[in-house]
Amino acid sequence: MSLSSIDVLISANETDDSLVRGKTTVVIDILRATSTMITALHNGAKSIFPVAGMDQAMRLTSTLDRSAVLTCGERNGLTIEGFDLGNSPLSCTPEIVTGKSMVMTTTNGTQALEKAKHAKKVYIGGFLNAARLMEELKTQGEEVLLVCSGWKGRFSLEDTLFAGYIVHELVNHSKGTPVLTDASTAALALYTHFAPKLVETLLESDHAKRLRDIVGEEEIRYCLTKDACPVLPVFHDGVITLPST
Ligand code: MLT
Repeated sequence: MSLSSIDVLISANETDDSLVRGKTTVVIDILRATSTMITALHNGAKSIFPVAGMDQAMRLTSTLDRSAVLTCGERNGLTIEGFDLGNSPLSCTPEIVTGKSMVMTTTNGTQALEKAKHAKKVYIGGFLNAARLMEELKTQGEEVLLVCSGWKGRFSLEDTLFAGYIVHELVNHSKGTPVLTDASTAALALYTHFAPKLVETLLESDHAKRLRDIVGEEEIRYCLTKDACPVLPVFHDGVITLPST
């Protein structure tokens, strides 16, 4: 079967149930929610429960074995008071996350996941698992929808450039000639333009600038590293895990 179409949504606000139903989706929040999720699962976390709100996170945590759960999340880049962790991939070391379930809420990434939850498939994507993700997407004979989390309803360069990378790889290396929409055509054009200086460009993106003083450049560079965590997290029935292959 060959891939039929590729579309891109530019922010969590644009995402809704009617757009995702029946589609194979990839939720993208390079800085930093999906990078944190990919890292945590790669480093041994058991599962991640993404939720939209802080109250929802606390309610869910109270139903779980507290000693086996880490609460994590941020608002505007800052760790939420009373939570075990912020939204830092570099904090998700094997020592901290192995065997744990994580209840996570973030400004945009977990909102996008909440809105994409009824898609046919929901993969968690980022530069960190780029090659592993492409391996899977190239086998799909379906409509692919790339859901960028963006920032508070607005476009974000890092998410759209990663969507453009996926479009580029699928157009050039999958079976068939997928139909592109205006959004996937634009993401592809942006990626093609910036590919030779991707990291330099993204280090100057709006959210990288917002984050630099809070978390430092090392963390931002880490989120832009290709293939550091070759795993493919899947969101299904409210929980993100690495399905056994
Ligand atoms: C988000 O969900 O908006 C982010 O991941 C923000 C961040 O922690 O940098």
